[in-house]
Amino acid sequence: MYTLGINAAFHDSAAALIKDGVLIAAAEDERFTHIKHGKRPIPFSAYELPFHAIDYCLQEAGITMKEVDHIAYSFDPSLLNNHQQKANGNNNVATSIFSEQWNDLFLSYMQQAPQHLRDGYPHHLQKRLSGMVIQPERWHFVEHHIAHAASAFFPSPFKEAAVLTLDGRGELASTSYFVGKDNSLQKVGEVCMPHSLGMLYEKMTTYLGFLHSSDEYKVMALASYGKPVYLDKFRSFIHLDGKGCYTIDDFSPEEAFGPARKKGATFEQRYFDIAHSLQKVLEETVLELAHWLYKETKQENLCMAGGVALNCVLNAIIRDKGPFKNVWVQPAAGDAGTALGAAIWIDRKFNAGTPAQPMEHAYWGPAYSDADVENLLQWMKIPYRRLNNVAAETARILAQNKVIGWFQGRMEFGPRALGSRSILASPAEASMQQKLNEIKDREDFRPVAPVVMEEVAGEWFENATVSPFMLFVYNIKPDKADKIPAVRHVDGTARIQTINKKQHQLYYDLLYEFNKLTGVPVLINTSFNTRGEPIVCSPKDAIACFWTSPFDALVINSFLLEKNAVA
Ligand SMILES: [Fe+2]
Repeated sequence: MYTLGINAAFHDSAAALIKDGVLIAAAEDERFTHIKHGKRPIPFSAYELPFHAIDYCLQEAGITMKEVDHIAYSFDPSLLNNHQQKANGNNNVATSIFSEQWNDLFLSYMQQAPQHLRDGYPHHLQKRLSGMVIQPERWHFVEHHIAHAASAFFPSPFKEAAVLTLDGRGELASTSYFVGKDNSLQKVGEVCMPHSLGMLYEKMTTYLGFLHSSDEYKVMALASYGKPVYLDKFRSFIHLDGKGCYTIDDFSPEEAFGPARKKGATFEQRYFDIAHSLQKVLEETVLELAHWLYKETKQENLCMAGGVALNCVLNAIIRDKGPFKNVWVQPAAGDAGTALGAAIWIDRKFNAGTPAQPMEHAYWGPAYSDADVENLLQWMKIPYRRLNNVAAETARILAQNKVIGWFQGRMEFGPRALGSRSILASPAEASMQQKLNEIKDREDFRPVAPVVMEEVAGEWFENATVSPFMLFVYNIKPDKADKIPAVRHVDGTARIQTINKKQHQLYYDLLYEFNKLTGVPVLINTSFNTRGEPIVCSPKDAIACFWTSPFDALVINSFLLEKNAVA
């Protein structure tokens, strides 16, 4: 039985395909369309479906839409619609997540999604989608936070867990609590709009001169440079009831903190302090919610998803100071992951007898054969060399302090590059962080993150064990700090990825070879893209990015491209 999951309501449009409990493929639409996050999260774009990601998933399985048994869409418009109808005439109930006037348009787009899937697909995809009749029993609207929760719990290593989902907003909920047991998810509470920790972070992202629903991770990085000067001010806006609920005052950031930072303006210390105070209030608030959830559920494991769960500094606080013994975060914690969660949720309904499949890696996107890549290189008339030992020869290039594009195997699902579509470099010199920021045209304050061989992670990072998805920060061990200065953030932490052979053999082998040459089992791993662009997907994307950016070499499957070799 095939179940196709679709996320399209807001942004990070994505598709995922499951066959009888087994994940076949998952990808974000942005990788195919080159529009970051797929689209902006506004009512006018709500109708756009991730046709390219859907087509890729079907292609990976070798099926057409006719063979898809169920379609799970990660938003339930009836929840918003019912609420709106109930609220008619009651001014005290928040009915709208956008301006009131666009609610009907937004709802209509959601309700018509099955028709859009049938009729709206691009001409060149017709073959795979043709002949499709979407009977009502095949189409499932899945509550947004259930989709987040399903993506967090079912692929986790746990049979039982508490689940916390935190995002900007779903239909109405912005924070939800569940208990997951085997094949069930039981909701134990929620916080609804307009109160939303995710929206608070988004609002301050805009205030700090960044793009909301996109650049929140930059605010998190900025926070490390500040002091908690405005913490009490933020605390005064958030009201916790001790029972898992909270409200947030509708305050004006300009009135509270002074003029907003204009896009591209220099950073005054005030902005660092505001970002720091915001991050701290988020951490202490979520920590308190986590304590309530623990008391309520008495579970020792916690699973998390929702865009806020991409905040790896917050996640580390929950891990270190929270009441749960184990914490697992869905690697596609943002809305893309709801395509996966919705598909799992529906698959579990029909395949309750089979166990859910743990997600040990995030490599669920397209891969390309050596023949594909070599044909393309020859067609493009680009000089290249076939490597006899990809890991050893690439390690030698990296040991010479060169920056390489690394394109190997199936593309990652989720916002992090994890060694399939990465830019890699040696962490041995502090200046490499600045160099990479220049190469990628990123802001100076942005840190770069390390990948480390799993079995020695604890020797280099305090209390590090297994962290394959770059979702938690760890302190660098003091005796190792001078060996990997480029990946040390200003606060002494690093957002690590651990890697083992099973997850990605060639990537692991590269670290092994680099360690043999340098005594350092760590590399800088940053995403294979430049500012404002999604991570590359195809060999053509990778080659285009390489030739329009100042990095030194590209290792794509078995082939090496070097700029100095062309001169
Ligand atoms: Fe969400």
